[in-house]
Amino acid sequence: MLPEYGRPVTELLAELTALKEADLPVRGGKVTAYVYDTGLPEVHEAAHRAYAEMLEVNMLDPTAFPSMVALERQVVGAVAELLGRPGAPGIFTSGGTESIMLAVKAARDARPGATRVVLPVTAHPAFHKAAHYLGMEIVPVPVDPVTYRASVPAFEAELDDRTALAVVSAPSYPQGVVDPVEEVAALAAARGVPCHVDACVGGWLLPWLREAGAAIPPFDLSVPGVTSISCDLHKFGYAPKGASVLLFRDPELRRRAYFASAAWPGYTIINATVQSSRSAGPLGGAWATLQALGREGYLELGCRTLEATRRLAEGVGKIPGLRVLGKPEAALVAIAGSSQVDVFVLADEARRLGWFLQPQLSYAGIPANIHVTVTGVTLAGVDAMLEVIAEAAEAARRRGPAEVPEGLPELIASLDLDALDDATFAELAASVGIDLTATGQPGMAVVNAVLDALPAATREAILVRFLSVMYS
Ligand SMILES: Cc1ncc(COP(=O)(O)O)c(C=O)c1O
Repeated sequence: MLPEYGRPVTELLAELTALKEADLPVRGGKVTAYVYDTGLPEVHEAAHRAYAEMLEVNMLDPTAFPSMVALERQVVGAVAELLGRPGAPGIFTSGGTESIMLAVKAARDARPGATRVVLPVTAHPAFHKAAHYLGMEIVPVPVDPVTYRASVPAFEAELDDRTALAVVSAPSYPQGVVDPVEEVAALAAARGVPCHVDACVGGWLLPWLREAGAAIPPFDLSVPGVTSISCDLHKFGYAPKGASVLLFRDPELRRRAYFASAAWPGYTIINATVQSSRSAGPLGGAWATLQALGREGYLELGCRTLEATRRLAEGVGKIPGLRVLGKPEAALVAIAGSSQVDVFVLADEARRLGWFLQPQLSYAGIPANIHVTVTGVTLAGVDAMLEVIAEAAEAARRRGPAEVPEGLPELIASLDLDALDDATFAELAASVGIDLTATGQPGMAVVNAVLDALPAATREAILVRFLSVMYS
């Protein structure tokens, strides 16, 4: 806790290093989610130094710190140029979720009375969060069961004057496929409905993949009817976390995202984002990453990513009991198992071999799978990754599927979770062999299998309890 006397920096850093020993490694390509590694240490070093340089600049007041306005103009300008509308107005935000929150707010305020957000079932939960925070309603539409792209007729049936926003993904995270952006944007425009493209994961990737030879359909602000687009630089821009850009077709819509308040006797509040005081460190880090790589650097990373994704998808197709879901168009690959290979057990086995593969639960008719985000560093280790997946699949076949304790999903579904305190909840989990304090360690298969057997609302209630127990 708080020490009585100040401690020297060397001691503090040693303590941080020791604490991080239990973390997943952020470099090296053995963690296939959460982290984005160029494989070029000098690029990340440039970002760290620029981040530290801007760390104490407060983005609260652009008149006080013009450096941050200059950097934001450059970063937003680069994204607008890459995404089909040079000079388009934008906002630098802390991440995909904040960009999405602001896109939904802008749409809500631009169409008073319209409260529905129509989106594919594969859209990121940040939209559900935005709707929850902003008092709006989600209208989910199905995706094609083979391609995993949003159904255009289903969109057509749902877009009307109650719709505040139509949402498509480029690509969606779960299967890495690009929704039919042109078709949905045209339908939305014909009804006067704004259309947001969630290119959080693909905005700074798809253009380079296209240039590297991949067939990427139009998805950005060059598509008529697209009114806003989000692009995370802390994903395939390879910037440190805290960096996303939200672009608008026109400045009127951007103004709807802004917030100002003079309803108090303190300093004037004028915010472009959800946060008010915030560090310009992430902006400095993002700017430096863009500058350190340049067009040539990103194109090279795009070529490597494309090659690694092709090799991974081909290789997985040859492993008995596994298959790739859909045809990944970006650098995200979803690998489903079979009656012989349980993907949750596979993920545990891979973890034992030193690799983290991200489990995804079944939802809306889409089977459970493991998710691999291919990044710049992946190509160098793609053969090793395939060997690990094959070995883990074989081990999973020998072990058989994760066994859900008899009657547990039914028991959980029947519980009034709000009536239990955290300690009772943790005890209940322990009594069926689930240690809620052992997060992220090998042995998550049963937890995932139990969650997978529950309806989404119960999963959510359990996850909230899980977090609460973790911090109690
Ligand atoms: C398509 C998509 N949208 C939004 C997000 C949310 O981004 P963040 O985690 O930066 O809030 C993600 C994150 O993976 C994503 O893949």
